[in-house]
Amino acid sequence: MNHNHKPVSGLPARESFVSGWQDRLQLLDSLISTQEEAKKLAEAGAPEGTTVRAEEQTGGRGRMGRKWHSPKGKGIWMSIVLRPDLPLSLTPQLTLLAGVAVCTAIREMTGVPAGIKWPNDLLAGGRKICGILVESCLREGGLHYAIAGIGISANLAPEDYPDYLHGVGTSLLIEGGGIPVDRDQLTRAVLTELEYLYRLYVEQGFRPVKERWESMSVTLGRQISFNTPQGRCEGRAVGLDDSGGLLLQDEAGNIISILSGEIEMI
Ligand code: BTN
Repeated sequence: MNHNHKPVSGLPARESFVSGWQDRLQLLDSLISTQEEAKKLAEAGAPEGTTVRAEEQTGGRGRMGRKWHSPKGKGIWMSIVLRPDLPLSLTPQLTLLAGVAVCTAIREMTGVPAGIKWPNDLLAGGRKICGILVESCLREGGLHYAIAGIGISANLAPEDYPDYLHGVGTSLLIEGGGIPVDRDQLTRAVLTELEYLYRLYVEQGFRPVKERWESMSVTLGRQISFNTPQGRCEGRAVGLDDSGGLLLQDEAGNIISILSGEIEMI
């Protein structure tokens, strides 16, 4: 992988890029979680881009041990096998990359003005429209493979949400004025964007991802509050560092970088 940010021109222009990952897509009916199914395939040697999508998940998982609401036939619940040659310290970059790819596909296909909340929640109208969970599998101290789990709340109506998600979650259907989304078409668009950006990243390093992420972010420029083991801290989000951490400037002007966790925009 090229981490020196030197532009190389091995990729066709985005308009003429044809995705090969779409041919590695398996559509299944009901799974506990597509993450587990994709892991099984990765362990069995499945190539990069192998994707599992399920109509429903009975035990969908979110970040920080949360559940992910995945009702039947309403969303895009899918997991993709990635095999980057990447030092472990840089795996947060994959999370940002996936957020950029999904945000691009959603904006282009649906016109819904989604934005990215660090690290990779997609929001529309201030509510969550998509969540991303990248899980790494290690071997001999290095990254063996990663599974990028993407949950897009596509066609959920308000009554499809349980009480605990009211006011928190929204969908492309709701934000798009009631127009249902073609989930197969959006799945293909996401896989194409993801494969293209991933190849760009492998060739050129983090810079193209960082630039796109910063232009799609709803976090930058905002006052942020977050928890640390020492207590709650605040600062203004001013950018990303080179490994994908969020740079915050506190009242005294100090810049600190946070690499993981949950932030609140205040
Ligand atoms: C989050 O925002 O907390 C991340 C949510 C990730 C949900 C997706 S849906 C497909 C894949 N399978 C899972 O069990 N989780 C991810």
